[in-house]
Amino acid sequence: MRNTFLRSLALGAVLGIGTAYAQTTKFTVNGAQVKAQVNQHMYGVFFEDINMGADGGIYAELIKNRSFEFYKPLMGWKKEGDKIAEGDILVLNRTNHEANPRFLRVKTQNASKGNIGLTNEGFRGMGIKKDLKYDFSVMYRQTTPGLSLRLELLDGKDNIIGTATLKPEKSGEDWHKQGVSFVSSATELKGKFRIWFEGSGSIDLDMISLFPTDTWKNRPGGMRADMVQLLADMKPGFIRFPGGCIVEGHDLETRYQWKKTVGPIEDRQLIVNRWNTEFAHRLTPDYYQTFGLGFFEYFQLAEDIGAEAMPILNCGMACQFNTSELVPMEDMEQYVQDALDLIEFANGPVSSKWGKVRSDMGHPAPFNLKMLGVGNENWGPQYVERLKLFQTAIKAKYPNIKLIYSSGTDPNGAKFDYLNGELRKLNVDIIDEHYYRSPEWFLENAARYDSYDRNGPKVFAGEYAAQSDRIASTKNENNWKTALAEASFLTGLERNADVVRLASYAPLFAHVDGWQWTPDMIWVDNLHAYGTPNYQIQKLYSLNKGTDVISLTENGKAVSGQDGMYASATLDKNKNELIIKISNYSDKAKDVEFAIEGLKKLASKGTNTFIASENLDKENTIENPKNVVPMEQSIKASGKKVKASLAPYSFNVLKFKTN
Ligand code: AHR
Repeated sequence: MRNTFLRSLALGAVLGIGTAYAQTTKFTVNGAQVKAQVNQHMYGVFFEDINMGADGGIYAELIKNRSFEFYKPLMGWKKEGDKIAEGDILVLNRTNHEANPRFLRVKTQNASKGNIGLTNEGFRGMGIKKDLKYDFSVMYRQTTPGLSLRLELLDGKDNIIGTATLKPEKSGEDWHKQGVSFVSSATELKGKFRIWFEGSGSIDLDMISLFPTDTWKNRPGGMRADMVQLLADMKPGFIRFPGGCIVEGHDLETRYQWKKTVGPIEDRQLIVNRWNTEFAHRLTPDYYQTFGLGFFEYFQLAEDIGAEAMPILNCGMACQFNTSELVPMEDMEQYVQDALDLIEFANGPVSSKWGKVRSDMGHPAPFNLKMLGVGNENWGPQYVERLKLFQTAIKAKYPNIKLIYSSGTDPNGAKFDYLNGELRKLNVDIIDEHYYRSPEWFLENAARYDSYDRNGPKVFAGEYAAQSDRIASTKNENNWKTALAEASFLTGLERNADVVRLASYAPLFAHVDGWQWTPDMIWVDNLHAYGTPNYQIQKLYSLNKGTDVISLTENGKAVSGQDGMYASATLDKNKNELIIKISNYSDKAKDVEFAIEGLKKLASKGTNTFIASENLDKENTIENPKNVVPMEQSIKASGKKVKASLAPYSFNVLKFKTN
């Protein structure tokens, strides 16, 4: 049905058939009037470990609480067996190992399968694929050898779908790592993993780990390839990481500290994820940050997919919604030093302290970091006095690093006005604006940047998403209404690409069984991932950004909502293309005509890549991931005139060759 509807729309547009009653709206596009250069890294992604985006999401580890450091040390694990007795399985807590104090001690006497064991439930189960190889590994030490580990991968009904045995090879006081691989015989959305301890002996275990081998770039201990692929398909210009509120922490103790996320994974100190308890209505008691996905991996991911890395660091303030805890000004040195060291980690020579850490992790070449954010949704004079310390120290040592500062939680109001004013007085490089607002707000604000100061700081639209209900509501939906409102708004960002240099939708990922926040750009379960309509819009912008913004007007004015239409135009000077983006946010088809001026040539045939749905509630789902996706139709130009019929509630990307 839907495809028939879209095909008839496409046919109507190809034939230039509009509705009989509609008047043609006439626009002028002038290719000789270049308004701005488009930052080729303008459209990026915002990554935060929220909604099980990292642990339980893109970080492909299947074992939850692999090092027993959760608040409840055996959370996610269940002791099993018909002969298990008190003391057979203990959790020990070392006082001399700050990063990873706990480990497991298992003692057995003539044990066989079914007697003494442990089962791990995974992150809302484990997604397992038939015929895929899985890598099990564990850190162990055994003073009394004799035990072996029988490993069983289970489906949702406890049937064994993969098995192997690991016989620890080394004994003594030292820790060793050993692994074994096996292949799964079935696909399972909610699998489990069991270890039976067999034989007699005593063994200490830590970092019990299970990874699929089909990770992104087949990296052992890597990331879920399907999730990374969705990002790569967008060709994002940058990746902002690690957030978001987790940069701040509830309190300073739980802030994100990048230095604790690099180096050997067993030495990366786990902390609670602030989204664990943030929303009483969406409590996620088993949400922790293991940092298996840490700063090195973020930089590597950015490099893999051609994005610029955009780290955001804590500014010496915890979340002002939670505790408002502050570092005294006289103690800020460590925070500033962390920022300087991060630049050295990313860009320094291997002979430098932090450049060596990067090199030891397998990346001697610099990551070529160009920008850095200080503070996320911080506000008030306390923020301003702290950011000045970073500004002075970083610019003195690294004058070419562009610095990004927050303008708070909202795009207007007293807090915004104060910060916007202060940051402009300081003439900072980039101001990070956030807007989680209604679809109507996005439509009404399509001209927001038309009147911004062209000479002051640049703008980073660092977090935005249209909320179909309200901010932090569980009822927000990633429907076509929100996506079309964002698409309409983005014409205003594109038109003002001289001011707005960077933009990212937020948040990025959400697990269908583990989310805290809606809406989100990409939804996943343990085996599948799909892009929402909002993702499709981001992708259309990123893939069709062009190089130069040119003038597109109706009666001499920018098109920012007249008769429900929003439009912008660019040239892609590398591909010799004219690109017109236009949304029709109305329930009527619209006949439009573009008079193309200032271009020597225009091909007689072009394309319209469009998304249209009169049902504004339409969404993509795990079952129907392609409900709302772009279609392509051919479109004609006659001389220097392009005519098209825009479907009701549609977003259209028209493209013509100009050579
Ligand atoms: O994107 C979700 C949250 O929204 C981010 O962590 C925070 O910066 C904003 O309030």
